[in-house]
Amino acid sequence: MCGIVGYVGSRPAAPILLEALKRLEYRGYDSAGMATVSRKLFVKKDRGRIADIDRRLKLAEMPGNLGVGHTRWATHGEPSRVNAHPHLDNSGKIAVVHNGIIENYFELKKFLQGHGYRFTSQTDTEVIPNLIHHFLKRSGDLEGSVRQAAKRLRGSFALAVISEEEPGKIIAVRQDSPLIIGLGEGEVFLASDIPAILQHTNRMLVLENGEMAVLTPDDVSIKKFGSGATVKREPMLVQWTAEMAEKEGYPHFTLKEIFQQPDAVRDTLRVPPEELKRLARFLLRAKRVYLIACGTSYHAALVAKYALAKLAGFPVEVVISSEFGEIGNMDEGTAVLAITQSGETADTLKAVEAARAAGARVACLTNVVGSSITRMSDLVCYTYAGPEVSVVATKTFAAQVAYLLRLAVQLAEARGRSGPRSKRLAAGLGSMPEIMRKVLVEVEPRVKSLARGFLSAEHIYLIGRGVGYPLVLEGALKIKEITYIHSEGMPAGELKHGTLALIERGTPVIAVVTPGGMRMKMVSNVEEVKARGAQVTAIADNGKDLEGHVDELISIPHTEELLSPLLFIIPLQLLAYHITVGRGQDPDRPRSLAKSVTVE
Ligand code: G6P
Repeated sequence: MCGIVGYVGSRPAAPILLEALKRLEYRGYDSAGMATVSRKLFVKKDRGRIADIDRRLKLAEMPGNLGVGHTRWATHGEPSRVNAHPHLDNSGKIAVVHNGIIENYFELKKFLQGHGYRFTSQTDTEVIPNLIHHFLKRSGDLEGSVRQAAKRLRGSFALAVISEEEPGKIIAVRQDSPLIIGLGEGEVFLASDIPAILQHTNRMLVLENGEMAVLTPDDVSIKKFGSGATVKREPMLVQWTAEMAEKEGYPHFTLKEIFQQPDAVRDTLRVPPEELKRLARFLLRAKRVYLIACGTSYHAALVAKYALAKLAGFPVEVVISSEFGEIGNMDEGTAVLAITQSGETADTLKAVEAARAAGARVACLTNVVGSSITRMSDLVCYTYAGPEVSVVATKTFAAQVAYLLRLAVQLAEARGRSGPRSKRLAAGLGSMPEIMRKVLVEVEPRVKSLARGFLSAEHIYLIGRGVGYPLVLEGALKIKEITYIHSEGMPAGELKHGTLALIERGTPVIAVVTPGGMRMKMVSNVEEVKARGAQVTAIADNGKDLEGHVDELISIPHTEELLSPLLFIIPLQLLAYHITVGRGQDPDRPRSLAKSVTVE
């Protein structure tokens, strides 16, 4: 996730762009840059936070009344000056800023190299200005060339394009990444999100997928880049405050990020199959495979353990990073997959160091390009959840699970075990973002009202089986982290070995009844706690059979068992969130916790 901005009008563009970029830093902050036009094109960019780059390069002093800017959250290519945006074409006259991921950049790069274009960065974006130039050389029509280029791009992209040869306009394009146009008096603004430009205007036009717009100081014309058909759209009046806008109208980043999960999964599913094949080969070469992680990432690793075993018959050991040194059996035959959204967790880095020292090979799965773990790993894999602001991990968990499910499908294939189940899973994954979106909207009001019943709870017990087990661990972690209520997740089968003694009249129990072979056993466990007077809230796959047997029921649409974590985690996260808010606490800033724990 990156942030892009643009300005065309009669004022100096640079200070406006700079201010807008600072307001978008929550979308990415590893590097930034700007391009302006004043007779010719000026470009400044570098690695680092925007304020530091401005101090070094004097961004605000760039000349011209038109320009674009970018704040980056790296996806392809580590944070560096050369990978920072804007990117130029080989003629140096066209500048592009991009938010998103170009899936077919490799083919496009080859195609352009065949036509003599040279590439200097490791980004997917650099193909875009060159592709535009390729068409422009023949037609001389910038707008038409941007349209031709947009039609050939696959993936997600919000683009802003400027050229020194047509110095009065910005061309904006949108597919699956947000883009907002702000209308002023004799000036027009462009941004990934509303807060970047809200101080200048509240008259906004939202660009939709498949559309492009030409922005001049007095006019905005929108058309579909596929058909070329003109689009008429009335501006809307945005009533948000700047703070509300940063959270896209959500009261907290935690809730915003819970609702961003379908996008995080969708973008992560765009990882090219070659990357998963590489990781599968890496793991298959080993005598033994460990998945190591902390916190929420550890729970994603546990989901993977079930998926890898059930789908690919591929056993892995999942170990908490801080314990790995004590029990990891490491030598040249060992492969370690370290899972860490931040790529900076000290316990995980230490475990990786120890594994490498013993001759093991290390792959990592992280959400932060260029993070410390990437420099210590033999193979680097990424989720594409975008930056997560809230301390509690939500969308990065969903992205990790989606990635690891794809890995299970890949391993099943590589081991000749890709039967109907893995085909169903592979096909089902593609529709998960839409189903997740539906579940979010449907369950939120219900969970919000159920949360009232937990406000003064002292203990909450969560039980699950199969993939429901890592889910209850994760649900209990979310509840602990932000509500401060003691909560414990456990395999439902273990109840009778101890915890059942704590269940008495009114004890809150959340039963996570996922689909699959264990479902009936879970229903029996529900009866077991009910018989002892527990207050049971069931989150159940197609839960009709539980109606009347439990106190509260949240029914989840039926899916393939291994896909169910992506849906069942939603009510658990929402419950933690709404209990927290109901208790008057701030979910974004839980006491004593840090987003990235860089001490052992
Ligand atoms: C901290 C965060 C958790 C996170 C854990 C592991 O404890 O508060 O939300 O799950 O670190 O982080 P990682 O970046 O390694 O996934």
